[in-house]
Amino acid sequence: MQPTSFEDTSLVHAPAHPLALSVNGAAVSVTVDVRTLLVQLLRDELRLTGTHVGCDTSQCGACTVLVDGEAVKACAVLAVQVEGREVRTIEGVAAGETLHPMQEAFREHHGLQCGFCTPGMILAAMDMVRRHGPLLDEGTVRAELEGNLCRCTGYHNIVKAIIAGARAMDAAPAVGLD
Ligand code: FES
Ligand code: FES
Repeated sequence: MQPTSFEDTSLVHAPAHPLALSVNGAAVSVTVDVRTLLVQLLRDELRLTGTHVGCDTSQCGACTVLVDGEAVKACAVLAVQVEGREVRTIEGVAAGETLHPMQEAFREHHGLQCGFCTPGMILAAMDMVRRHGPLLDEGTVRAELEGNLCRCTGYHNIVKAIIAGARAMDAAPAVGLD
């Protein structure tokens, strides 16, 4: 049996895969290398760079997006796993010029400093409301934020913003949640 040659490109070129999904309400059809991560598809192919990469090892939560409303870390999901699904990134949260109530709450309560973690925080918060309802308490929010790291704020204002944003979403449930 012949030893494997480093020139054997069959080992380094994975097959391309056609992929159809919805991103921020728009139909997307692309062809991807089957090894492409969802975060790579969003940032590198679709230029949706509001989805950040902080750790690349599914710890920081900066890459959090919604898939069918559920928060997922886009660095830990293959693009082909979201075939036929609805993906929402931070770019698809506001309604035109009108901020989503959770975005507005982060602005109002100073829930960010550098802003690197903020897209992931906001999308994680939206999923929190989906699962726990609008009357979030501080303990729930802090426990839920275990997977989202912030280097700047000390979390206090993030927690305040999420509690306020959840109540505001209840008052305006249709904004940015089509
Ligand atoms: S970049 Fe995905 S969790 Fe940190
Ligand atoms: S605001 Fe800077 S990392 Fe959170």
